[in-house]
Amino acid sequence: MSAGPLTADLFESTADTKPSQEAIAEGAVLLRGFARPFEAELIADLHAIVAQAPFRHMVTPGGHQMSVAMTNCGSAGWVTDRSGYRYDSNDPESAKPWPAMPSSFFRLAAQAAAQAGFNDFAPDACLINRYQPGAKMSLHQDKDELDFGAPIVSVSLGLPAIFLWGGLKRSDKPRRFPLKHGDIVAWGGPARLVFHGVAPLADGEHALLGRQRINLTFRKAR
Ligand code: SIN
Ligand code: FE2
Repeated sequence: MSAGPLTADLFESTADTKPSQEAIAEGAVLLRGFARPFEAELIADLHAIVAQAPFRHMVTPGGHQMSVAMTNCGSAGWVTDRSGYRYDSNDPESAKPWPAMPSSFFRLAAQAAAQAGFNDFAPDACLINRYQPGAKMSLHQDKDELDFGAPIVSVSLGLPAIFLWGGLKRSDKPRRFPLKHGDIVAWGGPARLVFHGVAPLADGEHALLGRQRINLTFRKAR
């Protein structure tokens, strides 16, 4: 527990929500419990986004349907289909712009980035991943963004998961970090292109989100 006087008043101090900060690699920080004070706003805003742009299982360029269901908010949304990975201003399902990024999302991402040492993070994209039991994310790099100068801020909500943190080569053996509701991982600089993923989600029931894990991945895409 390393919250000093600066951060102590930002958090509720109940037993399982104590914030802490852990460097997992050079340029990568795990902020435990950081999103907890935002959870009510985040979940209400999430429901509004999903009503406009429902979760869907996208297809990879290789033709595999992803086990994680996805949607987006912000001016750029990450999509994949048979023609490749890219950012699109519109939801291909509706041909309408993705829902705007709620201020709760933007503020959380900017504050988490600053806490991790990345000032002035201004994400234009938020990929929203829904994991149901069994869903997983294979090791990958986030590299569809124009400029790797900005960090990635990744927020975990709902059921716990095992985050896989590898290296700059796909073959680097990943370390495993348990992530719980409210935890955030932020990475940039020398860690920006590290391979990462999520192990298959164990079944369970979360008090606020039920039988699922939601991940919000904030990026500066353009
Ligand atoms: C991702 O890398 O796109 C998702 C990471 C996560 O779900 O924690
Ligand atoms: Fe990723």
